[in-house]
Amino acid sequence: MESFILIILVIFPGVRGGDWGVTSGDQCALRGSSVIIDCQYDYPSGRWVTSVGWSKLLPALGRPGHFILSQLPLNSAYFNYVGNYWSDCRLRINNVQHDDEGAYLFNFVTTINGWTSKRAARLSVRELTTVVEPSTVTEGGEVRLSCVSGCSTPVNILWFRDGQPVPQPGFQATREDAGRYYCAVQGQETVRSAPVALNVQYAPRKVTLSMTPSVIKGGAVTFRCSSDANPPVPQSGYSLHKDGHLISSEQNHTVSNIQPPHSGLYSCQAWNNISRSGISRINSTQLHLDVLYPPENMSILMDPLDVIEGGSMNLSCSSAANPAAHSYTWFRQSAPSLSSMLRVGSGPLLTLPSVDASHTGLYLCTARNQLGENNSSVVMLTMRKEYQGEQTVPVLAGIGVCVFVALLLALLLFWLKQRTRAEKKPTVFDFRLSGRGSSSSGPSDSVYANIQPNIRQALPSPPPAAQEITPLSQRSHHEQEAPMSYEDDVTYATVTIKPINSTHHMNSRSRAGDDDDSVIYASLA
Ligand SMILES: *[C@@H]1O[C@H](CO)[C@@H](O)[C@H](O)[C@H]1NC(C)=O
Ligand SMILES: *[C@@H]1O[C@H](CO)[C@@H](O)[C@H](O)[C@H]1NC(C)=O
Ligand SMILES: *[C@@H]1O[C@H](CO)[C@@H](O)[C@H](O)[C@H]1NC(C)=O
Ligand SMILES: *[C@@H]1O[C@H](CO)[C@@H](O)[C@H](O)[C@H]1NC(C)=O
Ligand SMILES: *[C@@H]1O[C@H](CO)[C@@H](O)[C@H](O)[C@H]1NC(C)=O
Ligand SMILES: *[C@@H]1O[C@H](CO)[C@@H](O)[C@H](O)[C@H]1NC(C)=O
Ligand SMILES: *[C@@H]1O[C@H](CO)[C@@H](O)[C@H](O)[C@H]1NC(C)=O
Repeated sequence: MESFILIILVIFPGVRGGDWGVTSGDQCALRGSSVIIDCQYDYPSGRWVTSVGWSKLLPALGRPGHFILSQLPLNSAYFNYVGNYWSDCRLRINNVQHDDEGAYLFNFVTTINGWTSKRAARLSVRELTTVVEPSTVTEGGEVRLSCVSGCSTPVNILWFRDGQPVPQPGFQATREDAGRYYCAVQGQETVRSAPVALNVQYAPRKVTLSMTPSVIKGGAVTFRCSSDANPPVPQSGYSLHKDGHLISSEQNHTVSNIQPPHSGLYSCQAWNNISRSGISRINSTQLHLDVLYPPENMSILMDPLDVIEGGSMNLSCSSAANPAAHSYTWFRQSAPSLSSMLRVGSGPLLTLPSVDASHTGLYLCTARNQLGENNSSVVMLTMRKEYQGEQTVPVLAGIGVCVFVALLLALLLFWLKQRTRAEKKPTVFDFRLSGRGSSSSGPSDSVYANIQPNIRQALPSPPPAAQEITPLSQRSHHEQEAPMSYEDDVTYATVTIKPINSTHHMNSRSRAGDDDDSVIYASLA
């Protein structure tokens, strides 16, 4: 190569044939790019170049207004001399940084004399700048990206978001479009702008209610609402609903001492002032809270309510339990004095197909689930007499009562009539205590009755005859103290003398055929 240059130099010595001089142009470079400082030089003919160099003008430390020349290492990775040894003095600077901005001077030495630029080449280093408009956008809004270059040199631009290419500099923002955007020079992707963030705001997504799905009665549950939202949902932006009703406006809501009524469908809502499709309050999915508890509120239902002997009876045991009771046991306490209960069955329904006396007593049932057991209160199973329950029995009984009352009335009427007649004629009581008196069929008009003096001894209890003749008006009195009234009756009965045919007595052998004038004599001993 060197021999080739020498040959050229030998063949065309002083090809420039001019004056000493260096011409160079000012440059604008984007930071990170490579730049070539244009440069041409000339010198009088008849000589050849023995060395070239580039230096940068630097302010002299401590001497304001004074500059020093700093020789550049032309074969470094940074500075490359891309000119030649007779006319081209271009300098390439790789990966230009702001430090590189400044004035550059070229110098060269020939076989006779050397030369340094009289006018420096100025290098300015500029930036690519990304503009994102707007930088905060609501999901669905339009976004425009633009790239501003500090140098007037036109460049082809590419777009990147977080290192990934972006196809279009204009788009409708989605949540995924949020990120850091920069533009870069096509073919020199290291020449890029500083990244600029795009903030995409969106209504809450993934609104999630978390809680323990099942809890034992008396325990505690914390309902926690969370969401993905931009801006994040503030504390005042959450609410908790049970079966559609607001129960809390906290993000974290704790219920201690959980009870069965806390069971239900829960959901939460989140909002951050951003709406999606016109809805700003976003619901979580619904979660069911299951409160578990051992059986309670137990009762026994009797069907029918009472039973006759031989009838059937169903006892059903009901309980509130979660999970539902899985086993039921029936107990009977036959005698109230016995404290021990006899196990009589299992299952929620106790069927007694044919009830008899041995089935009566107190019943209770026990229900059990995984969490425990509980007892119902006791019910009493009694049995009614056989016919009372029948439909025809009360009717028959009613008829019987009516007939009885009618008979009684008829009897009363008859007695009243007889009494009216008796007022005209004195009434006689045919009082026979001794069978020997036997006046009944005798031809004589007189009736003799012999009363025993030891009447009470002979008749420890009132004889049927005495009861039969007791006047109605005195009957109640009799029933209270029969022995005493008996004596009284005797006193009255013995002295009455009346016509036979008007006699009121129950004796079937009454003297229907006797004359009105007949007289009865009764003597009392
Ligand atoms: C969200 O939940 C609330 C309360 O439970 C309910 O009133 C509303 O209808 C729900 N909205 C939607 C869109 O489901
Ligand atoms: C709710 O609970 C979560 C998780 O424990 C916690 O990160 C959050 O700060 C709580 N929120 C409030 C408002 O206390
Ligand atoms: C919604 O905006 C209003 C007014 O700008 C503000 O007072 C309120 O706190 C905001 N609510 C939320 C949940 O961001
Ligand atoms: C049994 O039931 C009653 C009321 O139905 C309830 O108060 C009690 O706590 C229950 N007992 C048990 C052991 O669960
Ligand atoms: C038991 O009965 C009481 C009173 O009627 C009621 O408040 C409670 O909710 C009932 N328990 C269950 C589990 O149904
Ligand atoms: C008792 O229950 C059984 C079975 O469910 C039913 O067949 C029968 O009719 C019931 N008896 C009464 C008296 O309800
Ligand atoms: C229920 O009754 C049974 C039988 O009387 C008894 O052994 C048990 O202790 C009772 N259980 C409860 C929880 O009262």
